[in-house]
Amino acid sequence: MKGKFEEILSKLSEAFGPSGFEDEVRNIIRDELGSFCTVSHDLIGNVICRKAGASDSPKIMLAAHMDEVGFIVQSIRADGCASFVTLGSWRVSDLPGTVVTLMSDSGPVRGVIGSVPVHFTRQKQSGPPSMTLESLFVDFGANDREAAAGFGVKVGTPFVPETSFSRLVPGERFLGKAWDDRAGCAVMVETLKRLRDEDHPNTVFGVGTVQEEVGSRGAVVAASLVKPDISIILEGSPANDTVQGEGAADIRVGDGPQIRFYDPSMLPNRSLVEMLVKTAETHGIPHQVVVRRTGGTDGRQVQLEGAGVPCVVLSVVCRYAHSAAGLISEKDFENTVELLYWFLKEFDEERQREVTSF
Ligand code: CO
Repeated sequence: MKGKFEEILSKLSEAFGPSGFEDEVRNIIRDELGSFCTVSHDLIGNVICRKAGASDSPKIMLAAHMDEVGFIVQSIRADGCASFVTLGSWRVSDLPGTVVTLMSDSGPVRGVIGSVPVHFTRQKQSGPPSMTLESLFVDFGANDREAAAGFGVKVGTPFVPETSFSRLVPGERFLGKAWDDRAGCAVMVETLKRLRDEDHPNTVFGVGTVQEEVGSRGAVVAASLVKPDISIILEGSPANDTVQGEGAADIRVGDGPQIRFYDPSMLPNRSLVEMLVKTAETHGIPHQVVVRRTGGTDGRQVQLEGAGVPCVVLSVVCRYAHSAAGLISEKDFENTVELLYWFLKEFDEERQREVTSF
């Protein structure tokens, strides 16, 4: 039997949408929320879904970025393969052997990022040869430039890993691509749907932002348009519970929604962090408060709009972010929706004053 949220997570994870090519994700959000939110878009491509509550203020902006990290064709080589540049950050050594989908003029085209066979390398199994992004290429089966044109692949064709969604049976983990930030998009969609026929003492703007992975460009425009009183940045944030990274393995899949206390791009509003933690405690929702050494979110830009916007980052933790496939926990997802739902039900003008009194 399918879980309650499995369909939306599957749809959003499999949607094609590297930075600058977010159309499929935008359409899904529009379809899901259009019947009870006022949906508009701005001229950079953000989609803005306004859900009116009992009061015009406070104005709460939820920001979930629609783009995933991907690639764009830079040139077609004489051998029919294509060199490319990345859209967002990838580790070069993760790329060879990745099966990808190119969105060509004539529809999806399958390909693979070529790797040097171990037979041709001196080191054999001892480690990969040193690689640069410039040396990598995608092979989609064309024999030469002319043939590539016949595939509809050309300079500017975007592509992403081809990874289908699955539940890892019989558990509660989902495998898929682009959890950063389709998990956040799904949290936004499902929480707004839950508020559909309910009172809330505020007005919520659910914003799907564009181009986060190339520098939070959509967020600048969204914040200046919405002019929110506060903003909650919804993310799919990396876990470090199975990998050796910097610092302690303290971000765990299955331990509940992540409330971020620090990353280099933003110090959140401390009252908002406290309120989220308190909301979680009151409603018995597991959660993890995290300090990050690296990384950043749309909060980087949103916090700086106008007189300043109190922001906080709320995330579904995902393993293996910015690679071809990652894992999230169904329970974490449900708990993130639950926490955001109660926060939105309770955040009124009085709480707004608490957040903004210094
Ligand atoms: Co992200």
